[in-house]
Amino acid sequence: MEKVRVAIVGSEFAAGLHVRALKRCPYAEVVAACSIDAPSLKRFVKANNIPNKYDDYNKMFARDDVDLVSLCVPNFLHKQVGIAALAAGKHIICEKPLATTIADAKALIRAAQKYGRKLMYAEDWLNAPAILRAKEIIDQGGIGDVLYIKAKETHNGSHSIYAQRKEYCGGGAMIHLGIHPMAFIRWLAGSEIVEVAGMCTGGGQKNFFHKKYGGEDWSAALVTLKNGIRGFVEVNYITHGGMDDVMEICGTKGVMKIDMTFGSPMRVYSQPGFEYAIEKAETSKGWTRPAVDEEANLGYVSEIAHFIDCVRFDREPGFGMRAEDGAAVLQATLAVYESAAKGKTIKLKPLFGKTAGKTRPKAKKAQARKR
Ligand SMILES: NC(=O)c1ccc[n+]([C@@H]2O[C@H](COP(=O)([O-])OP(=O)(O)OC[C@H]3O[C@@H](n4cnc5c(N)ncnc54)[C@H](O)[C@@H]3O)[C@@H](O)[C@H]2O)c1
Repeated sequence: MEKVRVAIVGSEFAAGLHVRALKRCPYAEVVAACSIDAPSLKRFVKANNIPNKYDDYNKMFARDDVDLVSLCVPNFLHKQVGIAALAAGKHIICEKPLATTIADAKALIRAAQKYGRKLMYAEDWLNAPAILRAKEIIDQGGIGDVLYIKAKETHNGSHSIYAQRKEYCGGGAMIHLGIHPMAFIRWLAGSEIVEVAGMCTGGGQKNFFHKKYGGEDWSAALVTLKNGIRGFVEVNYITHGGMDDVMEICGTKGVMKIDMTFGSPMRVYSQPGFEYAIEKAETSKGWTRPAVDEEANLGYVSEIAHFIDCVRFDREPGFGMRAEDGAAVLQATLAVYESAAKGKTIKLKPLFGKTAGKTRPKAKKAQARKR
């Protein structure tokens, strides 16, 4: 297949990330987009030179010239839109989280199996250059055996009305942001999360600040991996100044710290301010560290290129980006809510028996993904 022909569902934030990454991939061609928001769709197709637009995703999926569908719709729609695309014979890239419930995640996976199509799980962190470099150093024994992985994503609140409503999002900051650090810890440890203890602010009036959000605006969780590694996930919507994605990895012979969003090589002092410094920053006035190619550094560009290759060469996505990985991370994330509600540690059972969704071999033996 020379070029993979892609249709995008959604026309806002994630759709923008996908379309720009697709445009940077020489083997992808965006042929259509769909959204229920007509003005947004009009802006989106015009800005990105997309030749066809739809207000009904089923009509778009009926096109013969679509190989792959990017799901950039709210979390609660991943199941229904995803199954419709798979049933129409399309491969799909599903944005995080895979779904809002384990039942929906499993229904998506069953549909992919039934229709023999790829269901690829978009976890951009696992493609971020700094994270891949961290993995390389760990695989070379640079910090000895990994003992403890701490990871967080925080900012001052979601732009998306769907993310602010629990019934559309499936929760609050933990499912919407925490799914990234949770996936990162599981991926780096190369092992399944078996135990979760969590706390949340509780949503609505119980929140620190975002009283109108149905889901929590602060949450944290301790996790234990099957291989004994421990992890800590921290997320919130109460952090001003821009999205803060930070990781710390403690090993028997060293420690590693990663600053994914404030680690820019630039420092700017601006009196009037300028258009954009980093994601979710309220201002660009005064001293800032403006992002340089943020979308590549956060992993979106190589993530999309990887999925395009998977379709072109009929390959499975790498560890962490298979549908089963998305389901396992969702299970751990939802367990944070259960733990917070019950006030106790939750033990997780394997979702797919012993073979399906298996974790990757030990780090040193792992095949590095070619990109
Ligand atoms: N990987 C990441 O870092 C990242 C970042 C942001 C969002 N996301 C994920 O991407 C998805 C979309 O989030 P977003 O921030 O773009 O949300 P958004 O609110 O900015 O956009 C949602 C889009 O979905 C469209 N839509 C809603 N219902 C629809 C329907 N029935 N048919 C067609 N279009 C419909 C809306 O019109 C809108 O264009 C979510 O699952 C979110 O978790 C991932």
